[in-house]
Amino acid sequence: MRSQYCGDIRITHLKKIVKLSGWVHKIRNLGKFIFIDIRDWTGIVQIIFESNNSVLFKKAVVLRHEFCIQIIGIVQERLPKNNNIKLKTGNIEILVHKLKIFNKSNPIPISYINENKDLDINLKYRYLYLRRSEILKNIQTRSAITHLIRNIMQKNKFLDIETPILTKSTPEGARDYLVPSRNYPGKFYALPQSPQLFKQLLMISGIDRYYQIVKCFRDEDLRSDRQPEFTQIDIEISFINSIKIRKFIEKLIISIWLKIINVKLNKFPILSYEESMNDYGTDKPDLRNPIKIIDISNIFIEKKHILFFEINNKDNTRIALLCISQGNYLSRKKIDYYTSYIKQYGVKKLFYIKIKKIELGCQGIDTSIKKILNDNILIKIINKTKAKNGDILFFIADKIEIVNKAMSTLRLKLGEDLKITEMLTWKPVWIINFPLFMKEKEGNLSSMHHPFTAIHKKNIKTFYNTPEKSISDSYDLVINGYEIGGGSVRIHDHKIQEKIFDLIGISRSVQIEKFGFLLEALQYGAPPHAGIALGLDRIVMLLTNSKNIRDVIAFPKTTSAICPMTNSPSVLQKDILKELGIKIIDNK
Ligand code: AMO
Repeated sequence: MRSQYCGDIRITHLKKIVKLSGWVHKIRNLGKFIFIDIRDWTGIVQIIFESNNSVLFKKAVVLRHEFCIQIIGIVQERLPKNNNIKLKTGNIEILVHKLKIFNKSNPIPISYINENKDLDINLKYRYLYLRRSEILKNIQTRSAITHLIRNIMQKNKFLDIETPILTKSTPEGARDYLVPSRNYPGKFYALPQSPQLFKQLLMISGIDRYYQIVKCFRDEDLRSDRQPEFTQIDIEISFINSIKIRKFIEKLIISIWLKIINVKLNKFPILSYEESMNDYGTDKPDLRNPIKIIDISNIFIEKKHILFFEINNKDNTRIALLCISQGNYLSRKKIDYYTSYIKQYGVKKLFYIKIKKIELGCQGIDTSIKKILNDNILIKIINKTKAKNGDILFFIADKIEIVNKAMSTLRLKLGEDLKITEMLTWKPVWIINFPLFMKEKEGNLSSMHHPFTAIHKKNIKTFYNTPEKSISDSYDLVINGYEIGGGSVRIHDHKIQEKIFDLIGISRSVQIEKFGFLLEALQYGAPPHAGIALGLDRIVMLLTNSKNIRDVIAFPKTTSAICPMTNSPSVLQKDILKELGIKIIDNK
């Protein structure tokens, strides 16, 4: 139905007859001529209808936006003054002598030119929204990335293996999406949060290197980088340690960045979880922003300091600051603005010191902690922060979690507002050695990654006495503040696996019911193994400079996990529910 794609026609096709199929993108009817931009997935080319061909011209007059058409015409050169330098086809046009209308189109309910802010409409007409060139480009880039990854994995001898979608719960920290079984009323399959257990079982099967580009499902609160169904590049390797697997992934990411956007990434720095939390208040630091959090807890140790900052020594507290070079000009109003910005994290107050003339000691500063400041303390702060005249220091004193959360967000906000963050660069970083467990509010332990994560070899001896202090042999890859991937060395000893389940409060009977197959499999010569999963959608999001993960997924859901196009989730007919043995309780 075509001889060429619209976007591929060039001056080299001059005087050639071409047959094109596509959509009417733009119409200009000048009376004697009708100019139309015709579009397909490669781009746009201008076609012309002349009024002296009256039969054809009459047919062209009825054309409207998004009609699906076919034309046959001759390629001609445009007059230089009519060239459109924005288009690759901008110096040619096609004089039409045959037109076929495949299908008319209703007026389009979304704009292709302006960004329509009504998300529900954009998603309801997603098939039309996908006609927008920028979204189409994202989908094309996504395809190029998966193609490249498959090639690299194939070259590195990985086997691409599919794992079940109808399965049992895989604990990754979210709620499961469940599928009722018709054959076994009252029983449910869970959609996988990840293929974690299956890939470990594949290692036990002797599959040395596994990968899969796979859909995962998590019922959790959504945000700009989270969707309820998303895609992982899931990887597992036998007989490998964390250093080697990180090296392989680093090479993979470097190749993707080079091939897709022609950017050469340097070797990725490594931070331990502890360093990352201390210096950036988060395990997803955006290193494009050079500001680090500086701990000054041991400078304010007197009782009057504790009273001033209204902190309770019994809590795990932290006093920390951000030193903003030459930020002294920030007004009271701006400081109040930043104070209210971080109040959402439970911070009571944002303190500050503006350094004007350091040589004058306390006389040379303006501060909100005057009451507890003296020259001695000031010198200690200056020595620790290396602050200079013109700088401003922002302080927070509170429980560690509150300080970290607030400081990490304030750091990002100041970095952006004051143009400190280098927006046009790439800063990957490995965060390694996460704690094995975290303490829940109720005091019980839960796994920081997932319960199949190995204990770091440094902690093997102390694990049985002080398990809560153990570090895991784990790693996350973070790029520009986004968690791109996470993985770990796995437990391959069934006794340790059982112990971990015990520690996170899974009784032995529930262990057998939920994970009996894994515990048993680990007893048949399970090899040491390790793996990682990379978030494909997030990688595409970064490489296409998209603000929201939706923009790189063909058919995404809203932030409340709804699809306005298909109207899902939807109500089921009573007889279907009956067959499944399900009764709906009206919660209202
Ligand atoms: P994890 O839970 O860290 O690890 O997930 C791996 C990566 O998947 C991406 N990701 C998401 N992307 C979009 N929307 C979501 N809701 C979402 N949730 C996660 C992130 C994340 O880094 N089985 C382990 C991996 C392993 O240990 O091998 C796992 O799933 O980029």
